[in-house]
Amino acid sequence: MLFVTGATGKTGQKLVKYLSEKNERFQIGVRSPEKTSFVERKNIEIINFDFMDINSINTALKNVDKLFLLTPIIENQVEITKQIVDVAKKSGVNYIVKLSAIGSEDNRDLQLIRWHRETDRYIEESGISFTILRPNSFMDNFINYGASIKTDGKLYMPRGEGKVSYISVEDVAAVACEVLTTKGHKNKIYDITGPEAISVSDVALAISKATGRPVEYVDIPEKIARQTMESAGYPKWMTEILMEVNNAIKAGTLSEVTTVARDITGKFTANIKEWAITNADAFK
Ligand SMILES: NC(=O)c1ccc[n+]([C@@H]2O[C@H](COP(=O)([O-])OP(=O)(O)OC[C@H]3O[C@@H](n4cnc5c(N)ncnc54)[C@H](OP(=O)(O)O)[C@@H]3O)[C@@H](O)[C@H]2O)c1
Repeated sequence: MLFVTGATGKTGQKLVKYLSEKNERFQIGVRSPEKTSFVERKNIEIINFDFMDINSINTALKNVDKLFLLTPIIENQVEITKQIVDVAKKSGVNYIVKLSAIGSEDNRDLQLIRWHRETDRYIEESGISFTILRPNSFMDNFINYGASIKTDGKLYMPRGEGKVSYISVEDVAAVACEVLTTKGHKNKIYDITGPEAISVSDVALAISKATGRPVEYVDIPEKIARQTMESAGYPKWMTEILMEVNNAIKAGTLSEVTTVARDITGKFTANIKEWAITNADAFK
C-alpha cells in the first residue's frame, strides 16, 4: 500500500489529484481531517497521522510498502524525518520517495538545505530503496508572498534581480506521481526545476499580464523584510531561514535549469506566464 504524507498541503493536494486520475489505491496520512474535502474518496483511505505522535506513525505504517515522504518546514524537521524512516524500516516499507530541496547534494549553506541534506543521507543509508526529489523554489509561493498585489498592486520582496528556476507545484506533483507509479526510479536523485531562470520582476510582469492589472515589484531592504515577517508573527528561526533563501536568490545561487521534470513526465513544465494565467484569480 502507498502512504502519502503532506496530502493537505500545496504539493500533496496536487499529488492526490494525479494519483487519483491514475486510479491508484492509496492512503493519505492527515492530522487535519477537516481539510480533506478535496479528496475523492474512491480508492483513497484517510488515516489519522501526526509526525509529532509516534503512536500514530507506528499504526499508520503497519501495512505500507511505499511511502511518499513530505516533511513540513518545522524546527525539528530532521528529528521527525529520521523518526518516520526508523519506523518505516521496522514496518517493512521497501520504497521511500522523499520531497527534498535543490542543492541538498552540494555545499549550499542554507538551513533548509542542510536539514534536507542530513535526512536525504539518512534515507540513502537506511537500506530502503529511495528516490529523492529535489525541486527548486515553488512558483506557488508567490500566492502567499503576493497577497499585497490584491490590495495595492505591489509585490514586496528582498530578492534584487536574482534569478531562480522556479517550478510550479503542479509539475513537482506530476513528477512525484510518475516516480511513484512507474518503474526505473529506484535509488535515483532528481533535481527538478522550471524551464527558465527568472527574477521577481519577471514574476510581477507575468502576474500583471495574466490579471490585466499593473503589478510592481518593490525590492525591499533586508531590514524591512525582517520587520515585516516579525510583525506578521513569524518565529525568529523561520525569519532567519527565509532570509537565507532570499539572500541566496539575490546572489543568483538558485538559478540552475534542468530538464529532469520534462524528461520524467514527458510534458513541458509550466513557465511563469502559463503559471500566472492558471493562478490569476489568486491575485484578484
Ligand atoms: N516551498 C518551496 O519553495 C519548496 C521548495 C523545495 C522544497 N520544498 C520542501 O517541500 C516541503 C513542503 O512542501 P509543501 O510546500 O507542499 O507543504 P505545505 O503546503 O507547507 O504543507 C505541509 C503539509 O504537511 C502537513 N503537516 C504539517 N505538520 C504536520 C504534522 N505534525 N503531522 C502530519 N502532517 C503535518 C500539513 O498538514 P496540515 O494541512 O494539517 O497543516 C500539510 O499537509 C518541505 O519539506 C520543503 O522544504 C519546498
